[in-house]
Amino acid sequence: MNGELKVSKIKNGTVIDHIPAGMAPAVLKILGIERSCPDTVIVAMNVKSQRLGLKDMVKVENRALEPQTVKKIAIVAPQATVNIIREMTVAEKIHVELPQELIGIIRCPNRNCITNSGERVVSHFTVERRAPLSMRCHYCESLVEGPAVELLL
Ligand SMILES: Nc1ncnc2c1ncn2[C@@H]1O[C@H](COP(=O)(O)OP(=O)(O)OP(=O)(O)O)[C@@H](O)[C@H]1O
Ligand SMILES: [Mg+2]
Ligand SMILES: [Zn+2]
Repeated sequence: MNGELKVSKIKNGTVIDHIPAGMAPAVLKILGIERSCPDTVIVAMNVKSQRLGLKDMVKVENRALEPQTVKKIAIVAPQATVNIIREMTVAEKIHVELPQELIGIIRCPNRNCITNSGERVVSHFTVERRAPLSMRCHYCESLVEGPAVELLL
């Protein structure tokens, strides 16, 4: 053994690679995999990475990610790579990128914000800075910082 990870491959699905160490649970939450799930899910935490030192990885069989899901992943794992697996091999590789405008992605922490009022106003944040992450509510101008934000699921 050379310390390499030995786990079975998935045939079709998605591999989310280069997740910062410790953030795999947040990614699972975004994917809605908090309890049981009918398909194979492989989670690796704190594995060695040339680029990140230590990283987490999440592999989900028979699952494609919606664009909104990829944006949420970009908040908790800004350097993540989303690999689409078809017939055992990487068919597509997407480097996640946080868009400037986040619509319907995060919840405004201001209880009095119109987006929390029960009126049907969709949350809208503008990314002001990427590292460290800082975003401002379009409606009430509340500032939200860091990856520990409340995501809309
Ligand atoms: N069929 C599969 N099942 C599970 N994991 C897979 C499968 N195919 C590839 N992977 C994993 O997906 C990731 C991306 O695979 P790839 O072959 O592109 O590696 P790479 O060249 O190291 O990519 P990168 O440059 O993005 O780090 C790796 O972590 C690899 O182990
Ligand atoms: Mg690699
Ligand atoms: Zn607000």
